[in-house]
Amino acid sequence: MGEFVVRGGRRLNGTVRINGAKNAALPIMAAAILADEPLVVTGVPDLRDVRVMQRVLEALGVRVERWGTTLRLDPRPLQGYAVPAELMQEMRASVFVMGPLLARLGVATIVQPGGCAIGDRPIDLHLKGFAALGAEVREVDGATLVRAHGRLRGGEIHLSYPSVGATENLMMAAALAQGETRIRNAAMEPEIVDLAQCLEQMGCPVRGAGTREIRIIGQDRLGGGEHPVIPDRIETATFALAVAAAGGTLRLEHCLPAHLPGFWTKLEEVGVEVEEVDAETVVVRAPDHYPATGTAVATHPYPGFATDIQPQWMAFVTRVPGLHIITERVFENRLGHAQELRRMGAHILVDQRTAVVRGGTPLHGAAVRAIDLRAGAALVIAALGAEGETRISGREVIERGYERLDQRLGQVGADIAAE
Ligand code: EPZ
Repeated sequence: MGEFVVRGGRRLNGTVRINGAKNAALPIMAAAILADEPLVVTGVPDLRDVRVMQRVLEALGVRVERWGTTLRLDPRPLQGYAVPAELMQEMRASVFVMGPLLARLGVATIVQPGGCAIGDRPIDLHLKGFAALGAEVREVDGATLVRAHGRLRGGEIHLSYPSVGATENLMMAAALAQGETRIRNAAMEPEIVDLAQCLEQMGCPVRGAGTREIRIIGQDRLGGGEHPVIPDRIETATFALAVAAAGGTLRLEHCLPAHLPGFWTKLEEVGVEVEEVDAETVVVRAPDHYPATGTAVATHPYPGFATDIQPQWMAFVTRVPGLHIITERVFENRLGHAQELRRMGAHILVDQRTAVVRGGTPLHGAAVRAIDLRAGAALVIAALGAEGETRISGREVIERGYERLDQRLGQVGADIAAE
């Protein structure tokens, strides 16, 4: 496993251009299966997870071409319906091809990947939704098989939890179903809205994306077209917390600050200056020192505080004198990074889903490990503000969601190297 080596204490100054959103690109790539002509997706980041999704689609017969940040996905040679088990293991988001395959071919099989570092990650809501559209769901030789006897029928789906992946998978399944589908208690994340806009572009009317109730008017066929993915709100927050921890000023361009409701006020609460220059640009200035402040955040589905920012927030508040309460309400086991931060001298107590950070004591360099991509990003943030050298193993885990992180941070003054 490769490492990032960070020597802390360097302030950041300069401009960072935010990449397209990984969590928008992955379902949209899968949506190409629904079309009967090529779909062009632009602004796609060059990430390990995007490359895995490309391998999944190619294994099913989809022809994928890439130049720069543009992907051309041609589904016409599609012939497979089984997601390769090793790719499912490598990336859970491979599950996003189930809905499109079921809608397009009437069948899909996956080997459920089981849990990961942050939780069990079941897909029961996806499967219940497929059943509500008329599919048969059964286990065959350790794999999950979903089959539509004839064409999927539009129907009513009520999600017991506003699952992002289930909402996206079911939107895509409904796009070729007979009639209208209503998804209630749907996820509201910006990536849901982006997928809806892509489906609209392909010829499927979608109403209510971004609210708790989404209506999809199933079509007999879908075209291709061209769709740009939205900027990555989690990457935006990650760079904002990096400069908050390291000190200095960063101008973040090609981002959508409006996609981070509640986040910016949290930063301002502890003394960080946030200037929204325009709808796609924000300047984040760290104070020379942090006055004593206590904070409390709890993660929730959008528009609540995003779980994918929680590890990075924890790393940052170790810099702020005071007590900081962090409650993780989305995943059952997403506080593991506290242990790694403790190796750097952080004072953190964890009880079940709540962590209490006593901030204000400078961290020191250490050898630490990235247990998942956001926890890894948190360790980079902690290392930027720490004294001395930090070696973060699991570089490949971080590179699943962050492109050229070392180069982009290095360009604004960080002392960071990939080894
Ligand atoms: C998406 O995962 C994101 N991944 C995650 O980002 C993100 O953390 C998560 O949404 C929450 O925002 C992608 O978009 C590729 P969920 P997903 O279904 O769809 C439970 C990252 O860092 N649940 O909203 O898997 C589940 O166990 C990744 O980029 C069920 O119980 O998230 C969890 O506790 C990490 N049954 C909660 O819902 C189901 O069928 C939220 O999961 C589905 C989910």
